[in-house]
Amino acid sequence: MIFSLSGCGSSSEKTDRTLRVGVVTYTVDDPFINAMVEKLKSQLKTMETTNMKVIVSVRSGDNDQREQDEIVEEMIDAGCDVLCVNLVDRTAPVNIIKSARQSDIPVIFFNREPVRDDLMLWEKLYYVGCDAKESGDMQGEIAANYIKNHSDVDRDGDGKIQYVLLEGEAGHQDAISRTDCSVKTLMENGVDLEKLSYQFADWNRGQAENRMTQLISQYGGQIEMVISNNDEMALGAVEAYKNSGISQDKWPVIFGIDGLDDALQAIKSGTMQGTVYNDKEDQANEIARLAVDLFKGNKLDSHNLVDGKYYVSPYWKVDIDSVDDFLHR
Ligand code: BGC
Repeated sequence: MIFSLSGCGSSSEKTDRTLRVGVVTYTVDDPFINAMVEKLKSQLKTMETTNMKVIVSVRSGDNDQREQDEIVEEMIDAGCDVLCVNLVDRTAPVNIIKSARQSDIPVIFFNREPVRDDLMLWEKLYYVGCDAKESGDMQGEIAANYIKNHSDVDRDGDGKIQYVLLEGEAGHQDAISRTDCSVKTLMENGVDLEKLSYQFADWNRGQAENRMTQLISQYGGQIEMVISNNDEMALGAVEAYKNSGISQDKWPVIFGIDGLDDALQAIKSGTMQGTVYNDKEDQANEIARLAVDLFKGNKLDSHNLVDGKYYVSPYWKVDIDSVDDFLHR
């Protein structure tokens, strides 16, 4: 497989037997997205045959929607059969849709979900992602279950769990639903909660560590639980506690989402108590299958797309009892 530096491949490579896939992410700095793109590249490679070569080009929008729009245009100009787009701004896919439609190139959006009206603008637009509500519900269930089995989580014994919540990114479908559903599910499962603080940390480990360090100096030993919209921020909280001088037996319980390797290791070593597996392998597999079927003009019946457009990948609960099943995926 050849990776070209710009566009989806030079025009000399343009044959009917070559599938050129252009992948554009919102940033180069997101470990979950990077891990998923690696899976996508290897999955596409396994789908090469003697009759079909695959060329993948990966670029990033560098957190700037206008720059991402331009990259998409460049990829189209360079020759591209299918676009896979992880939007910078999920409410602003219109320029990308316009350019792709003009050149009749299907677009598979992934992870950052365009609003429904935008996805309905053209028949060759698809979305591969998850039901964010499900991850929040599962995180709430894992946390509630843990608390039921470990009465010492309520360190001050006041019958309530004092908690802080680390939020991903304002306006991201996953951040909004995970926050709502996780807290709601904990309460529905009989856990009495007291909110200390909600902080945005942009999905990012370093930012979460800074926020958490501030929260520790503000609330000290009062914090009994950290709920995080993703693992990177949960691991930032772990770092903050490691540097706080507080002994580990006095740390709060910490729950994340994604199931990245570092978080799975943290669950094994007891610095995190649970996560929800965001199935990057399944999502990458579906994007690759869709790209190939769209390229070949095959029917999409086997994809089970909701409304002919949405692929919804399932989440999985991970705690100390199930972590080994996920470590070697
Ligand atoms: C993941 C986060 C990631 C974000 C990027 C979410 O689904 O859980 O880790 O940063 O997507 O859009």
